[in-house]
Amino acid sequence: MNPTRETTQSSHSSRSLTLAERADRYALYQRSVQDVAWEMHFVEQTFRALRKRAPQQLREDFCGTALAACEWVKRNRRHQAIGVDIDPAVLAWGRQHNVSRLAPRIARRLRLLQADVLTVQVPTVDIILAFNFSYWIFKERALLREYFRQVRQGLSADGIFMLDAYGGYDAFREMREREDFGRFTYVWEQAAYEPVSGQTTCHIHFSFPDGSRLRQAFSYHWRLWTLPELRELLAEAGFEKITVYFEGTDAKTGEGNGVFQPTARGKADPAWIAYIMAQT
Ligand SMILES: C[S@@+](CC[C@H](N)C(=O)[O-])C[C@H]1O[C@@H](n2cnc3c(N)ncnc32)[C@H](O)[C@@H]1O
Repeated sequence: MNPTRETTQSSHSSRSLTLAERADRYALYQRSVQDVAWEMHFVEQTFRALRKRAPQQLREDFCGTALAACEWVKRNRRHQAIGVDIDPAVLAWGRQHNVSRLAPRIARRLRLLQADVLTVQVPTVDIILAFNFSYWIFKERALLREYFRQVRQGLSADGIFMLDAYGGYDAFREMREREDFGRFTYVWEQAAYEPVSGQTTCHIHFSFPDGSRLRQAFSYHWRLWTLPELRELLAEAGFEKITVYFEGTDAKTGEGNGVFQPTARGKADPAWIAYIMAQT
């Protein structure tokens, strides 16, 4: 993930830096992509509803800057978290900017591990998360099933694997979508979709009020998996009960209302995000 910087000014050393040059792509990602307070609330409430007990240990696979794992240990003094990521640079950023902000008594309940999620060996946990579609880097059935098996083995007896997915007919389009965050604009680009392999390339760009841009701040090369494929693979990997949670619709706006509920039959929405709860 190497950002290329595109600026409107020449790169003479005496000029002042553009907003893009001063920006930190991980900080921008956290602000625009993640809402970990909402996510960890949803994760905790859903586990309680399904298992009738309070969850304690959480493993955040593909944790990146480990923002979700940090939020988990902050929420409750019984909570423990393990963040797993293969990239030492993103883990170092997370330690410096997220973990360092935790009180030492809270940070003690968090462990960050540089490891491959396919082979990581850690004690079993109540919840394993794979959010923001990160597991779509596994582009073949056998490999994704292997990851799901590895997750299954990493869960406690009544543990739950929670993952997300997106879809709808817009997911197959090559397109760009912008969202204004005031000090910057977040741009989601679906740059390519190839139907024979089902592979997609997506980028996140950021643009700034001074006209500067951080192009391809993050790039993803994924297979665009569908819910039935994911449900079948989870079942093959040994999960007993697999439930899809779809977002409800706000009657006034027609937009998503932020409430995700178990859904047996979804609608042909052009763009949806869903959570999958895979129970052991
Ligand atoms: C899209 S980021 C996810 C960040 C965060 N979890 C979120 O929800 O937004 C994907 C992360 O997966 C990591 N990653 C990719 N392949 C991996 C693997 N095989 N094992 C562990 N981490 C991996 C990358 O280094 C990157 O930090």
